[in-house]
Amino acid sequence: MNFTGANILSVEQFDRDSIDYIFQIADRMQPYARRQKRTTVLDGAILGNLFFEPSTRTRVSFGTAFNLLGGEVRETTGMESSALSKGESLYDTARVLSSYSDIIAMRHPKSGSVAEFAQGSRVPVINGGDGANEHPTQALLDLYTIKKELAYHGTSLNGLHICMMGDLKFGRTVHSLSRLLALYPNVRFTLISPRELAMPESVLAVLEKAGHQVTITDQVSESSDAHILYQTRIQQERFESVEEANQYRGRFRLNSDIYTKHFKPNTVIMHPLPRDSRAEANELDNDLNQNPNLAIFRQADNGVLIRMALFALTLGVAEQVENYDRTVNWFSDKPNL
Ligand code: NCD
Repeated sequence: MNFTGANILSVEQFDRDSIDYIFQIADRMQPYARRQKRTTVLDGAILGNLFFEPSTRTRVSFGTAFNLLGGEVRETTGMESSALSKGESLYDTARVLSSYSDIIAMRHPKSGSVAEFAQGSRVPVINGGDGANEHPTQALLDLYTIKKELAYHGTSLNGLHICMMGDLKFGRTVHSLSRLLALYPNVRFTLISPRELAMPESVLAVLEKAGHQVTITDQVSESSDAHILYQTRIQQERFESVEEANQYRGRFRLNSDIYTKHFKPNTVIMHPLPRDSRAEANELDNDLNQNPNLAIFRQADNGVLIRMALFALTLGVAEQVENYDRTVNWFSDKPNL
């Protein structure tokens, strides 16, 4: 895949070689993310960070990643504060905003909206989540995390058993991650959800075509030998009403007791975050916070490395990052990511 100038809209764009290349570049971003060194390879470049849906991690990590490469960030948050709420088309918004920036990261509640926006853009566009459809940068950081966690336990992706649990219908992160994992051999998927919130047929078809073993169930007990447990949030904002979402909230909780009872020791716990910590949901209890297998914060940290790699690649500077670096002036003692 030729990254320079490319949009990143869907995981369908990637093959295993391009993923390996992204991960190699991400590894090289460690010293900057750890604040041992700083690079100014993107000095003068501007990121348009357009978030038309709530976001903490994705938005801030896109901005941080760009800053860590020496670039600057212009941000718009919320639909109400943008001219889209005055009826402006995505095309017009893209034509205008793309002349103010060198690259755009965007999140929007409508499926396909980021691709539509990209048609009007004169600069590369990175999809930060388009409705229930896709979240390609999250899938890359999830896969990067899975590889690292498995390597820590002395295993690899070959023969991976992943269990995905919760809202698999509206959760875009599990859609993109499943499609990405379908590229690897011998992956076993256990998909646990209420029947009404099952993984969409379009994603299942990709897994089936690639010959993977898929178990669809509403029983947590089916997942006992999973290597990775990927928990998700009920995507309340995609339901017709809060009452409808409430029917499912709390159906698949995870706490220390459930984890010990249903999963083998060392099953890695992942979640794209935010976790819904309200008592009625509590999908990932705080009593797991000290469990070393809880990878959720390592996962979020890895997001910066992956997004730095994608910016460096799409702006064509991936091989120049080190030419513009120097050690930092201030005290920094951050651990390895
Ligand atoms: C996810 C999202 O927005 O799709 N969050 C994220 O980007 N890390 C998951 C969610 O909101 O539940």
